[in-house]
Order: sequence, then structure tokens, then C-alpha cells
Amino acid sequence: MQYFNSKPYSTQMALEVTYELKTESTIGSVDFDHIQFGRVFADHMFMATYDGAQWIECKIAPYGPLTLSPATSALHYGQSIFEGMKAFKAADGTPLLFRPFDNAARFNRSAQRMCMPEIPESLFVEALERLIWVDRQWIPTKEGSSLYIRPFMFATDDFLGVRPSSRYLFIAWCCPVVAYYSQPLKVKIEEKYARAAPGGVGFTKCAGNYGAAMLPTREAQEEGFDQVLWTDPVDHEFLEETGTTNCFVVAEDRLITPALTDTMLAGITRDSVISLARAQGIKVEERPIRVSELKAWHAAGSLQEMFITGTAATLVNIQGFGHQGKYYALEGTGSHSISSSILDRLDAIRTRQAADPFGWVHPVPAR
Ligand code: COI
Repeated sequence: MQYFNSKPYSTQMALEVTYELKTESTIGSVDFDHIQFGRVFADHMFMATYDGAQWIECKIAPYGPLTLSPATSALHYGQSIFEGMKAFKAADGTPLLFRPFDNAARFNRSAQRMCMPEIPESLFVEALERLIWVDRQWIPTKEGSSLYIRPFMFATDDFLGVRPSSRYLFIAWCCPVVAYYSQPLKVKIEEKYARAAPGGVGFTKCAGNYGAAMLPTREAQEEGFDQVLWTDPVDHEFLEETGTTNCFVVAEDRLITPALTDTMLAGITRDSVISLARAQGIKVEERPIRVSELKAWHAAGSLQEMFITGTAATLVNIQGFGHQGKYYALEGTGSHSISSSILDRLDAIRTRQAADPFGWVHPVPAR
């Protein structure tokens, strides 16, 4: 499977979009110094309808509730997929999207597996460009903040039978955000529950993957952990990812992350971290990681760092992990020097404070 397909900034198409703009922005009522993640919504959303044959009725409208039939197919049978993305602002005020073509490609891999229509990459990217341009004053500039974007698509047929819907809605909306996790995490290596099985939908961002993780996550939190660290569904022997992110280990001066399989999400931040590490001369290994190996590194004192990566989280350190009732603290073992140098570089590229040798940053054109 080809996971990433970064493209240079080149796409311009004549997309017909109608605009219904809010007469009064709510931005004045937002305290940007105390934003709670995911609770503040920008003024507008982008919407497009799939009518069974093509994408129509593209519009920018005020962010607000939808009217849906109780028989809406997605609510019953789960044809619902999403992406997570972020926009930043350059020093000169230009809004910047990060790797939007890669999100478009992953969205379409999810759509394909969930038997939903794909969305043309150019429509996906232009939709976000238009939305971000309209709501550009919502992009926060404080260090560590950004405008989180949530594009999603769900089945809208009102029909009781189990079959793929013929109609879908694509919507994108935004939230100004700060850190998703505000401190290093304690993760529980999960052995009772499984996130995804081979041949299943683990590699997609379908809503059900997250719904199914809620009970295991709550149980882990009741035991004092912040997140579950999933293992393979058969033997629970190999690390996979956490409930919201991919994961990395630094041991014996190597950066190691589980190799992608069809049970794992191909994180765009994961891919960025690997590229940045390699560019810094760090030895990177993408391969299966056994839980026993992790514990052996911990016992030998060679487990230097563990961290998670994702769009919402960006990069957050793990302070310790639990396995079979025992807790393994990382405090004191790691300097976090590899994770912090990669995070600094990523932040600088995303905000155009550093050169972008990978072509990841996509300036949003004025519309
Ligand atoms: C993201 O990191 O953007 C995600 O989609 C994970 C989400 C559950 C917060």
C-alpha cells in the first residue's frame, strides 16, 4: 500500500461554491489564552453533497446544527469517516495548511474501505483552502496553538436496510486549539481488548475505531493511565498504537516505531517524524516491537525515550507504561533530546519559521 503522496502546491480548479457568511463573528467572545481543546468552534463550515453520482452543492455556511432523519444510515451502520488536520499562520499572516494532499489521500483510503465515494483530492484541498481563508482570523498564533480542522463524511440515506448509502455529506469545520495532552502520558499496554484485526478497518479513520476504544480507555483511566497502548489482536505481543496516536521508542540510540500494517493508522505526523529524524542522521527502524523487547530495554537502562505522535497531539512524551499490573517509569532514564529536537523542527517548518525541504507546507491562497 502506498501511504503518502505529497504534492507541491499546484492545484487550482474552478469549484463552484456558494457563500452564506455569518453576519456577526463570535470570535470576540473567545478567550484565546484559555482555550479548551475541541470546545470552541470557528464561524463557518464547508459542506458538499454526494447525490449518488457526483459531488454537488458546495457551500460555505455558518457553523451550526444539521437536520437529519432518525433513519440516517451512518447513525445505524457506521459509514462515517474523518480526518484531523491543522492550519498555522506564517509571520506575514499567510494561512498555512500542513500536508493536506496526504490527508486527502488517507481520507480516500478510508472511503474506499468503508464503501463510500471518494472525494476528488482537488475538491478536498480547495474546500479547506476556502474554509480557512474565510475563517483565517481564527488561526491562533500563540506558541503551541493552531486551528484544528475536522473534515468528515457520512452516509445520509434514510433507509433501514443494510447496504451502502447512495448519498453522503462531506463537511469540514475548525476549532482553535492548544495541546491535546498537556503533560507526558502514562500508557497501559492493553492485552484484554483488541483495536483492529487483520483484514479489518484499523488502517482507516472510521468513527467506529474510536467508539470501540472508549471502554478500554475508560478502564485504563480508572487504573490511573491516560491512554491505552494497543497490541496486536492475536497474541498481544507486539506494540501497535495508542487510542489517539502512533507511538515511538528511542532505545540504544535508535528511533523505533511499529511498522505499518492494515491494523494501524498511517499517521501523517508519524511519517513527518520519521523523515525529520532521518534528515537529522538518526537511525530509524520501522519494524514490529515486542512488549518483551520494550521491557528488556527498560531493565537494561537503554530505553531512552517513548513518545506518541498524531495531528491533535503533535508529539507528547510517555512517562511510563503499565503491563500486566506492573508500572515501568521512564522518568530519569530519558533526556527527551531526540523527541524535543524533532518537535522543534516540525513546529518551525509548520509555521514557516524554518525551510520546508519536504514540500509539506501549503499556503492558502486569498479568495
Ligand atoms: C487527530 O489526531 O487528529 C485525531 O484524529 C485523533 C483524534 C481522536 C483526536
